[in-house]
Amino acid sequence: MIPIKTAEEIEQMRLSCRLAARTLVMIEPHIRPGVTTNRLNDLCHQFILDHGATPSPLHYRPSPQSPQGFPKSICTSVNHQVCHGIPSDRVLRENDIINVDITVCLNGFHGDTSKTFFVGPPTSRNKKIVLVAAECLQVGIEAAQPAGYFGDIGTAIEIHARNSYCSVVREYCGHGIGRSFHEEPAVLHYATRDRGAKLQPGMIFTIEPMINLGKADIRLMPDHWTVVTKDHTLSAQFEHTILITPEGNEILTVADGC
Ligand code: MF3
Ligand code: CO
Ligand code: CO
Repeated sequence: MIPIKTAEEIEQMRLSCRLAARTLVMIEPHIRPGVTTNRLNDLCHQFILDHGATPSPLHYRPSPQSPQGFPKSICTSVNHQVCHGIPSDRVLRENDIINVDITVCLNGFHGDTSKTFFVGPPTSRNKKIVLVAAECLQVGIEAAQPAGYFGDIGTAIEIHARNSYCSVVREYCGHGIGRSFHEEPAVLHYATRDRGAKLQPGMIFTIEPMINLGKADIRLMPDHWTVVTKDHTLSAQFEHTILITPEGNEILTVADGC
């Protein structure tokens, strides 16, 4: 069963999602050549605590059987890293791209958003993959309508990626979110024969397509977290948490109103 959130739960989700979005706004000016991903982690960690929340990734275990929890408070995925990059003493350099993925837990509710940034001036490849990834999230959000199905989202994303000569990572999905970081359903970013569940007002979930400049295939690094493209081509990702409304949808991870 896909949870339908109550009006009170939706209000709480607005607060946690807005804090996640504000964390991304806070960190943007720090993303420059010479900064380490650990520094970005520490700034976000402190900002989240200062706003009465906790960083959801810290010690996060996808399942009780997972060997170790995630060791840091945010995910930083650079260049051919697809997702779940672990902040480290790696120094960002001109022409890098970096996805910063923020999830906060405020009053027991999670808000999840990510964005890919240019480090210094972008190359034409940087611009291409970041633009297509942003557009893929956009078309996915537009396809999420109360009269439709979850499958409409992945179909729209896959068509746009394909028309842009890019590929969609299939192993990682968007997800329902609320009192749990990851809950039902899995939100696929590609088309399947099955239309999936019906979208209904009150459903809250993320859309977070990972888009590669080359092939879709990925590999998991020996740290058990960092996902990279097998062909080492660039990968970019944008993520929002959205609410299905009677009229359409509302992006919850927006920083305005403060
Ligand atoms: N924020 C990621 C998502 O969008 C999940 C990160 S899990 C972690 O779902 F453990 F790697 F942090
Ligand atoms: Co995320
Ligand atoms: Co997510």
